[in-house]
This record gives sequence, structure tokens and C-alpha cells, in this order.
Amino acid sequence: MTAHPLLEVRELSAGYGSTTVLRDVELRIDAGEVVVLLGPNGAGKTTLLRALTGSVRAHGDLRFAGASLARTTTDGRARLGIAHVPQGRGTFTDLTVEENLLVGGYTRRDREARADLDRWYDFFPRLGERRHQLAGSMSGGEQQMLAVARALMLRPRLLLLDEPSLGLAPVVTQALFRQLGRLSTETALTMLVVEQAAHLALGIASRAYTLTHGTISAPLSPQDLADQEELRRVYLGAAHAAGQAQTTTKGRTAWTSSSNGSSTA
Ligand SMILES: Nc1ncnc2c1ncn2[C@@H]1O[C@H](COP(=O)(O)OP(=O)(O)OP(=O)(O)O)[C@@H](O)[C@H]1O
Ligand SMILES: [Mg+2]
Repeated sequence: MTAHPLLEVRELSAGYGSTTVLRDVELRIDAGEVVVLLGPNGAGKTTLLRALTGSVRAHGDLRFAGASLARTTTDGRARLGIAHVPQGRGTFTDLTVEENLLVGGYTRRDREARADLDRWYDFFPRLGERRHQLAGSMSGGEQQMLAVARALMLRPRLLLLDEPSLGLAPVVTQALFRQLGRLSTETALTMLVVEQAAHLALGIASRAYTLTHGTISAPLSPQDLADQEELRRVYLGAAHAAGQAQTTTKGRTAWTSSSNGSSTA
């Protein structure tokens, strides 16, 4: 049997109304990989994730585990195991933590979903402690964890994360990426992570792509990014380009400590 990539995207274009945002995007994600998508504001990162979930106008060849997604609706893609944590989290603020998680498991049988609740309460103990609290009264970091756990309730084969660090304090972002790194190593979950906190995301990534004005790069290894001056400057900030091993005021850990593919824990 030929092993297919988990996700294979060819000649993807996508946009809104008559505006084309993405052109000729090619992307491949193998099972078990964490792939990071970097790019400036407005580049089309969110649009790319929406094209993968089927929630925006798109053309091209999208294959999931070898099968075309052309005729698969957004809901159908979720049932196949493509879970999306949208930019800005999208938890139901007036439901409790537990209710949010159960909504996340809507495609699953009741008993299975209940069993998974315990699993994710173990993994994210804070959610267990707060299970009866309204999601809207949780901190930003807790809500982001909840959004991730809610997506995990689908038992996804591919988790799409859109800027999980948005609006979080640096120390909270670091904790979140530690958890995502653990998820990757302990469960081999495949993830596509859009992230501005490039240094942290690349610390758990096997590969990266950059997206600029709707055009995607060739796949890059974290080492490629470290080696290419221009990319380092754009995505990792001046401190990294200068090769300084330090934690900046934005809480950025040193690039050198995260470029070997290990967790930034
Ligand atoms: N719902 C929409 N309707 C029309 N245009 C949109 C819509 N959403 C995004 N766009 C446009 O598509 C382009 C790409 O936006 P997108 O949100 O994908 O960028 P992004 O790379 O995710 O940016 P950011 O880093 O700010 O989140 C932008 O020009 C944006 O204005
Ligand atoms: Mg975005």
C-alpha cells in the first residue's frame, strides 16, 4: 500500500467574492508532523486554513489521506478528522468549560465523548478544575487551551491552529506551546500551526512554509529558516538575526535553543 501524505494541496486558489487571496498554493503534511505556516498580516494564512476546512471559495486539488476533498462539505471534513481552532479562539463564552468540550465532541457517540473528557482534563488540569466555570470568565490562556481541547474532542487526525498565541502574555504562550509540543510527542497528532511567535512554533515543528501575498514558499526545515538571513530577520526578529542567545522583552526564547526541533520546554 502506498503511504499518502495526510494532507496534500496542489494548485489551490481561494478568495472572497471576486477577490483572489491565494494563488497556486502547494502544501504537504505527513502524518505525525507539526508544520508551521508563517507570514505577515494579510498574507492569507487564515484564508488557507479556511480553504482546508471548506469555509471559503476555493479551487484546486485537496487530498486528505489520499482522497479528494472536492465534494466534501465543511461538516464532512470535520467528520473526516480535520479540526480547526480559528483565530480568536471561538469558544462559546456563555457555556461552561465542560459544555464547550461536549459541543466539540458532537460528532462522537456520547459515551466516547465522556471518556475523552477525562483524558483532556488530565492533560489540561486547569480545565478539569474549572469544568463548571463559564468559558467567558476564563483567562485568555485558559480559553485558548479550552479551544484546543474542544477541537481534540473530535479526535482529529489533523489539527489546524490559527495563531494560538494571539493576545496571550509571553509566559502563557510559552506554556501553551509546551502543551502543544507534548501533544505532538505523546499522541503523534498532526498539526498545521499558523503562528507569529515563530521561534516557539518552530521549536515543535518539523517543517515550515512562509506565505507572502497569497503565495507559498517551498517547504523549509527549521534549519533552513535559521540559516537564511532574510527569513531569520523577517520571522525571528533582529535579535535572532544577530544570533543573540537571549530572552527578549517579548519573552522570545533564543532561536539557537529551539532550532533543533526539540520542545522549547
Ligand atoms: N471574510 C472576508 N471577506 C473579504 N476579504 C477577506 C475576508 N477575510 C479576509 N479577507 C482578506 O483576505 C486577505 C487575507 O486575509 P487573511 O485573514 O487570510 O490574512 P492572514 O494572513 O490570516 O492575516 P493576519 O496575520 O492578520 O491574521 C486580506 O486582504 C483580507 O482583508
Ligand atoms: Mg489570520
